[in-house]
Amino acid sequence: MKHKLAIIGFGTVGQGFCEILLQKKEYLKKKYDFEWSVVAVADFAYGNVYNENGLDVEEMVGLAQKKEKFVKDAVDWETLELIERCNADTVCELTFTDLKTGGPAVDHVKTALASGKSVVTSNKGPAALMYPEMKKLADEQGVKFMIEGTVVAGTPIVNLAEGPLAGCEISKIRGILNGTTNYILSEMEKGLPYEEVLKSAQELGYAEADPTGDVEGYDARGKVTILANVVMGAELDIEDVACQGITKITPDDIKFAKEQGKRWKLIGSVENKDGKVTGSVAPEMVDLSHPLAGIMGATNALTFTTDLLGDVTIVGPGAGRIETGFSILTDVLAIGKR
Ligand SMILES: NC(=O)c1ccc[n+]([C@@H]2O[C@H](COP(=O)([O-])OP(=O)(O)OC[C@H]3O[C@@H](n4cnc5c(N)ncnc54)[C@H](OP(=O)(O)O)[C@@H]3O)[C@@H](O)[C@H]2O)c1
Repeated sequence: MKHKLAIIGFGTVGQGFCEILLQKKEYLKKKYDFEWSVVAVADFAYGNVYNENGLDVEEMVGLAQKKEKFVKDAVDWETLELIERCNADTVCELTFTDLKTGGPAVDHVKTALASGKSVVTSNKGPAALMYPEMKKLADEQGVKFMIEGTVVAGTPIVNLAEGPLAGCEISKIRGILNGTTNYILSEMEKGLPYEEVLKSAQELGYAEADPTGDVEGYDARGKVTILANVVMGAELDIEDVACQGITKITPDDIKFAKEQGKRWKLIGSVENKDGKVTGSVAPEMVDLSHPLAGIMGATNALTFTTDLLGDVTIVGPGAGRIETGFSILTDVLAIGKR
């Protein structure tokens, strides 16, 4: 059976995912008996297109790379109408993250689930703000709401907890959930002040023009909320997660940590104590002997504390076109296998 996909948001991740699908077409068929067609794409910049038998993905990736609009199979349906009417079995929601309201992604996800389509997303908005509601809707419809890419891109976190670690009780998850802040803290170890490092991080493309979401810890808070609700089965609101960023860390703080045999890290943490789940984001001095202390630059890492294995730490990229595109592939393949 061919899996029919719809892609809402054809930016960095949408294009990266399509590149992987094209490159690995034969491999996916041979190894997993997985065949695909992309039947619908919606994007503000390139337009909305639909072909029930499959779009020309190679041509669309080429056009998007040249910043040109799609030509073939254009439809004048609005995005919600496209999601509802298309014959896709899985909708990949890849528009921008809005951690205040969820943005248009909320309606995209709800419409897809309500019309009996599974949803795969790397968009933290719907996952952080309303995972329990979306999961309930998916369960009622007998479809899936898959969100691996919302936490540490394609590095397996959600699927690790639900798959290979199934059977272990996880009491704590702690880690580096934001590459930008980890890069800034790593660079500050050269003795540079926060403002100077932030400026060079912006010039290098590690930090956005408005870095608030990263440096104040809000991005990490979204991910902590997701981990609490998905892995720990809590029902936390994003506001329940205490949040402090790295803007107040000074070169003197960095020096002090070094003298103590420690290193500052922005740590996102979820803990289950006697059935009560809490979450927080805050800078912490981590002992140099801990695996998280050695994670430098834009890399992410998480330590799961479990009853049967003790601590398990996973390290990997937390962003990137192909790295996040892979998160969409892994969830789409998992739906295919089921
Ligand atoms: N890039 C990464 O490394 C990474 C890693 C982890 C998670 N994520 C998450 O993955 C999602 C996609 O990221 P991205 O980097 O691919 O973002 P992006 O490059 O900004 O792409 C998003 C695309 O969606 C389009 N779009 C926005 N609103 C839309 C709407 N209502 N209907 C249709 N199209 C719409 C945008 O068009 P306009 O540009 O014209 O608005 C843009 O082309 C985001 O939620 C992001 O937070 C990304």
